[in-house]
Amino acid sequence: MSTILALPPVARRVVELREQVKAWRNAGLKVALVPTMGALHEGHLTLVRAALEYADKVVVSIFVNPTQFGPTEDFDAYPRTLDADRANLATAGAALVYAPTVAEMYPDGFATAITVSGVSEGLCGDLRPGHFSGVATVVTKFLVQAMPDVAAFGEKDYQQLQVIRRLVRDLDIPVTILGVPTVREADGLARSSRNAYLSAESRKVAPALYRTLQDTAAAIRAGAAVDTALEAGKRAILAAGFASVDYLELRAADGLAPLSDLDRPARILVAAYLGKTRLIDNIAV
Ligand code: PAJ
Repeated sequence: MSTILALPPVARRVVELREQVKAWRNAGLKVALVPTMGALHEGHLTLVRAALEYADKVVVSIFVNPTQFGPTEDFDAYPRTLDADRANLATAGAALVYAPTVAEMYPDGFATAITVSGVSEGLCGDLRPGHFSGVATVVTKFLVQAMPDVAAFGEKDYQQLQVIRRLVRDLDIPVTILGVPTVREADGLARSSRNAYLSAESRKVAPALYRTLQDTAAAIRAGAAVDTALEAGKRAILAAGFASVDYLELRAADGLAPLSDLDRPARILVAAYLGKTRLIDNIAV
């Protein structure tokens, strides 16, 4: 016997979101927010399940945020699949979808930007100018709009998670940020909406990125010189069939300071082009 799950309702306006959250609060319920750009996959749904361990009600925002896309990036082409997303969210147990329009988020005259220095610089920050300011601004808006107890983000976008932790601390936003480990395919490839852009050929090459992260982390842990291990890693990624490597770096896990020795908890972060598709990943060392 199959049960038909009710689809979570969709709020389009800030006032609707606030009314619902207020009603839950008044009933003594804890509320979590999971910000997304939609095209939901198992990675996003895992965030919802993780959030449900800390909260009674989970709001998932679905908003393809124009201010975090560069002029040559895939804003227009970014997949928009609201019906399928709602069906998946019903299964995962989300209570509300918040899907504002661009005009609701950025009305005429909108003039404010949040810029987080330090953690936004280097790595993806240098190669995607303005990207993290766009992310920081939209996430700040979502947090202030929903005022959740908890908000969940994936370690898949590790630099983004660090930017958000920093801004929440700096702006005294009363929310607990939950970092959720990366959800992967069976062959190790990190789940991503952009994996859909890969050709069948490229899809076979893609797991080399995570394999290289694992090998490089193992080498550094075993005492290899950091520079040598990272250079070998870059060569391995190119040899596997990637077109170019944007970066492969060892950084402090907390705050992302560049490291030349493994003297504290660290993270290796990578971005590389496979054909025209840019894939990112990272691993703890
Ligand atoms: P989006 O790419 O849709 O990702 C939404 C959330 O899902 C992010 O916190 C991301 O880290 C997490 N996520 C994506 N793939 C994952 C995976 N394989 N495992 C675990 N978590 C994963 O990131 C954004 O949207 C936007 O920048 C946003 C924060 C919503 C601001 O616009």
